[in-house]
Amino acid sequence: MSSETLQKAREYEKKYSRYADQERPAFHVTGQIGWINDPNGFSAYKGEYHLFFQYHPYSVEWGPMHWGHAKTKDFIKWEMLPAAIAPDSAADCAGCFSGSAIELPDGKQLLMYTGVYRETREDGVTQDIQHQCLAIGDGLEYEKFEGNPVLTAEHLPEGASPNDFRDPHIWKEGDTYYSVVGNRPADGSGSLLVFESKDAFHWKFKTEMDACHNEYGRMWECPDIFGLDGKDVILVSPQEMVPLGVEFHAGFGTIVLLGKLDRETFKFQREALHSIDYGIDFYAPQTLLTEDGRRVMIAWMENWTNVGCKLTDCRIFGAMTLPRELSIKNHRLIQNPVRELENYRTKGVHYKNMIIHHSVNLAGVNGRHIDMTVQVSPLSGNGYNWFRMELAKDGEHGVSVRYKPGTNMIRVDRSRCGGRFDIVHTRDFVVFPHDGELKIRVVMDGNLLELFFNDGEQAATFKLYNKNLDARSITFEADVPVQIDVEKYDLVVE
Ligand code: FRU
Repeated sequence: MSSETLQKAREYEKKYSRYADQERPAFHVTGQIGWINDPNGFSAYKGEYHLFFQYHPYSVEWGPMHWGHAKTKDFIKWEMLPAAIAPDSAADCAGCFSGSAIELPDGKQLLMYTGVYRETREDGVTQDIQHQCLAIGDGLEYEKFEGNPVLTAEHLPEGASPNDFRDPHIWKEGDTYYSVVGNRPADGSGSLLVFESKDAFHWKFKTEMDACHNEYGRMWECPDIFGLDGKDVILVSPQEMVPLGVEFHAGFGTIVLLGKLDRETFKFQREALHSIDYGIDFYAPQTLLTEDGRRVMIAWMENWTNVGCKLTDCRIFGAMTLPRELSIKNHRLIQNPVRELENYRTKGVHYKNMIIHHSVNLAGVNGRHIDMTVQVSPLSGNGYNWFRMELAKDGEHGVSVRYKPGTNMIRVDRSRCGGRFDIVHTRDFVVFPHDGELKIRVVMDGNLLELFFNDGEQAATFKLYNKNLDARSITFEADVPVQIDVEKYDLVVE
């Protein structure tokens, strides 16, 4: 039975979603209407992939959080479903925050999420209390568990915070369910607490799996954990990062920890750690395992710092990244677009061994819905100091991607992409050297730009801000003649 609050959200999205159709990207998930943030409950269920997300249908601002809902068979074409849950019970009246999903033995789908309610302290300050809740459903309709909340302040170890206790990631090993939840311990930074349960409904605290100790940001939001290529992998989204070289930028970041989860103690032993994405607009990633064994990640294609930057009169705000296939190589997380994207390629244009120098456009190489791979190589015996590609270009606009093989630095600059916002528009980061060669894959869906370097060794995600998609030219140049191969397709998803 759905509540009045949920009913109202469903009616609202049904009535108004068509007013956002003009703004929608072709193959990236957005809300039917209004605001979205983090992906939630990204999971395989009954032969399809489900994606829920933080959702406030009524405006393009963050508000009392609902869970929006979509599903897909191939990660490219999505079917939007009615909102799944709403802030309609005592345990979550101030919001249904982020969480995850798992299939129960009886075939039902379990959503584990953070319920938020507000209380006023003795000193007059209003504070959020966060605790973990459950909802059970069939892929369309969900019922809140009458025993909510199932994980509260009472389950917390000493020093842990009931105000920052959120984003449960549930999984099962053998006959035991585990859930890792972000928390803020006494040192004010972030920690990952693990809880265990035999039935997914009754939980007890196990241990602190890993902690930030104010080293990589503060509160760690939205943890995910999975095994991949012989390693255990944790993804977290730290708030209040301090910049470190060009590896970590200030503010909201995303980090992957590679190592081993000790199955006796449930302590995580880190072996390596790096940024997940080197662009500006990437946060709160989650993964799922496909039926054919691929680990696929999706993230919110925004950054909290910039959410005030919106196109005038927009009716939707926030999008998800393209789902990415993950693997591990040389202690690094490798990311590439899901292979299903290739089914939507049309009008291939290929150039091989082209010598380019001054800024040049190659016939047929342009567009705003494209999948393009560019391979740059020095001419024999002749190094180059810089190579630059400009995308989404017209007389006034453009986004540049520049590579300097001497320092292995990439600089992406979107300051002329059409936005009128005085925010960070440039990112520098280092790619791995390949003898002066560089491979860049560009996936662009209107104003959403995802770059993959050297077969996924690095990814960098950027949102562009141009209402008019006519800025669609692409140019290449270098300080001296270099050789490039270009393979470019239009992407058509109807
Ligand atoms: C991360 C986050 C989560 C929280 C949700 C609220 O972007 O802050 O920690 O559950 O967004 O919408």
